[in-house]
Amino acid sequence: MKTVRSVAALRSEIRNAKRRGKTIGFVPTMGALHAGHLKLIQTARRRNDLVVVSLFVNPIQFNNPKDLKSYPRTGQRDRILARAAGADLLFIPSVRALYPDGFQTFVEVTRLSKRWEGAARPGHFQGVATVVAKLFNLVQPTEAYFGRKDAQQARLVRQMVLDLNFPVRVRALGTVRESGGLALSSRNRRLSPGGRRLAGQLHAALQEGRGLIKWGFRRPERVIARMRRRVSSKRIRIEYLAIVDPGTLEPVRRITGPVWLLGAVRIEGVRLIDNLTCSAP
Ligand code: PAJ
Repeated sequence: MKTVRSVAALRSEIRNAKRRGKTIGFVPTMGALHAGHLKLIQTARRRNDLVVVSLFVNPIQFNNPKDLKSYPRTGQRDRILARAAGADLLFIPSVRALYPDGFQTFVEVTRLSKRWEGAARPGHFQGVATVVAKLFNLVQPTEAYFGRKDAQQARLVRQMVLDLNFPVRVRALGTVRESGGLALSSRNRRLSPGGRRLAGQLHAALQEGRGLIKWGFRRPERVIARMRRRVSSKRIRIEYLAIVDPGTLEPVRRITGPVWLLGAVRIEGVRLIDNLTCSAP
């Protein structure tokens, strides 16, 4: 496995691979790798000749400077894990390499950025779309891998690829969870053991919602009320629980077909998100 840090070095590796007709699988990450990231890398490995992983804590997608500062940085460990999962090429650019002085071009996916994570974190999705567009231009992947854990992000990237004609196939893989149901996230390490146990309630609430829909509930407000009751602890603050259309991410008025159940909570000052897909029978 090779590590490159400059745009020029990355471009040269990509040029070589393309000249040899290799397919390129790409996994963009912010490092602090866990089993969720590794599943993306392993899947990319099985399906492509060259596997490129980027590790870059993208400052422009953080609306909160404290959050950016406290984002875990575990470079040495990440390199070992990425190699073991099958990465061929690690791209670890500096902030200046991707955002040199004078940088002023941004990508915005307008409607899909409005609600949920977009509302809670102004500017977040503009930062995500911009860095992913830049990385796609640099890596020129055949396929790019995202996690469904960040459902809104994956949906938005798909839209950007469609709207801006990127020749990239976007693949979204299922969420990797702890045995208690908690979705793996680099943020989980900021929770106390008690907070971690509580965090399982978010998944439990989403599962309850899915169960009710399978059972025949059709009115979203009734399902959401029951989900809210499932998150009982005063130590959990619900930011949103929603039942949305998978295409538009707008709340549905009646549950008649496929929907996504989205949730965000705050525990011990840590913001956690999760989601499940579901379909009315
Ligand atoms: P990061 O949070 O590091 O996540 C990188 C990828 O791993 C994302 O596609 C995310 O959805 C996926 N992922 C995270 N937790 C997962 C889990 N438990 N199961 C499956 N997949 C999981 O998302 C970002 O970085 C950034 O916004 C990025 C796309 C790299 C742009 O900066």
